[in-house]
Amino acid sequence: MLQVPVREHSSQASTKAVILVGGPSRGTRFRPLSLDVPKPLFEVAGHPIIHHCLKAVAKVPDVREVLLVGYYDETVFRDFIKDASKEFPQFRISYLREYTALGTAGGLYHFRDAILKGKPERLLVLNADVCCSFPLGEMMRLFEEKDAEAVILGTRVSNDAATNFGCIVSDSHTKRVLHYVEKPESHISNLINCGVYLFATECIFPAIRSAIKRRTTRPRLLSYPSSDNLESSFVAVGDDEDAEKSEVLRLEQDILSDLADSNRFFVHETKDFWRQIKTAGSAVPANALYLQKAFQTESPELTAPSATIVPPVYIHPTATVDPTAKLGPNVSIGPRVVVGAGARIKDSIVLEDAEIRHDACVMHSIIGWSSRVGAWARVEGTPIPIGSHSTSIVKHGIKVQSITILGKECGVGDEVRVQNCVCLPYKELKRDVANEVIM
Ligand code: GDD
Repeated sequence: MLQVPVREHSSQASTKAVILVGGPSRGTRFRPLSLDVPKPLFEVAGHPIIHHCLKAVAKVPDVREVLLVGYYDETVFRDFIKDASKEFPQFRISYLREYTALGTAGGLYHFRDAILKGKPERLLVLNADVCCSFPLGEMMRLFEEKDAEAVILGTRVSNDAATNFGCIVSDSHTKRVLHYVEKPESHISNLINCGVYLFATECIFPAIRSAIKRRTTRPRLLSYPSSDNLESSFVAVGDDEDAEKSEVLRLEQDILSDLADSNRFFVHETKDFWRQIKTAGSAVPANALYLQKAFQTESPELTAPSATIVPPVYIHPTATVDPTAKLGPNVSIGPRVVVGAGARIKDSIVLEDAEIRHDACVMHSIIGWSSRVGAWARVEGTPIPIGSHSTSIVKHGIKVQSITILGKECGVGDEVRVQNCVCLPYKELKRDVANEVIM
């Protein structure tokens, strides 16, 4: 158990935020979309995924700096940071690049000097690949009320889905985390880790340091059950030297279960929406959830409802949509997209420069950059049940993607029907296809 001093609050308590963006070797399940854009920059509801995280952080009054931590190339986030810095002048945004994947806690530790610069009292850590309403204000309040060393955001999922996530056993009255297990083999709780944390800086870094010390005295596993490498084999580390050399540290396996041994680790359970953005198809429910949230909060970015606009719908100002086309609900139309007369689009994302010709129908799908859907064509997926955390379905005994995805510059011929397919970039579909990956 970690012994930490009770905090004395200065009058200028401040918070720093870290967004864990990962790197190109992760997010492979986001293909074919991640072939053309790094997953954190993929647009849902009109904005890059990490823009939604920044927007939430911007509501926390005392954040002056946000650090994107990952192992993408230096240049990847340059334009995004330039634009976001104008939109969120209240904080400085920078990218810190890990020389290799250091794990969800390894990166924090590696950049501890940058994070601790300015002596922030609290550290917000957000996984970039989640979509939620980020109730950071509520987490802050719980943190202060309990004089916590850590607060984790939790949500309830079905018993079947729970073991795919970090599972939390808590005291429902005190909200104290009693036990934490990352992706347990059998059911322990359906309250799961949403990938959003608030830490006392004076606690989290000593906790990581203790984990590093522990690994020098205890042989351990180098590979973890991340949902990206569930099938990869585990590498046992036999000697201390190897263990010390490896800087890979995971918050979930190496730190959180130990924090649960202290009595100052709490969970804020959100009743609002939450989803992971792992597979490319999961961008469609994320798009719907963010659009619905924007609609509830009367965001001026959304298109006004009308006979042909079933809200919520986002249309980029540079897109051209024929007034007889019917759009919505849950539709995002990207820059310079052209939608022809009589087209029907529902529960879908249409990316930059794509064209949907007249009388075509697009449902539960993602239409890639500069792709074309011909006249009277149908591109469709299968609706995913509300509350499902999976984007695959079983059709005729075969597991297929529920969302149809056309990669960059694909073409669907006039009157062609595409159902539950994933189509890699630059393919021309001239005949009907169903339940296929088109390579
Ligand atoms: N900087 C950095 N470096 N980021 C990383 C690294 C790394 O080496 N590895 C992963 N990340 C980022 C990913 O980009 C993602 O945003 C987040 O950390 C978590 O990714 P995974 O390690 O793949 O974990 P997971 O998604 O399978 O599970 C985590 O998230 C779930 C909620 O979505 C765990 O925290 C679970 O407990 C949790 O339920």
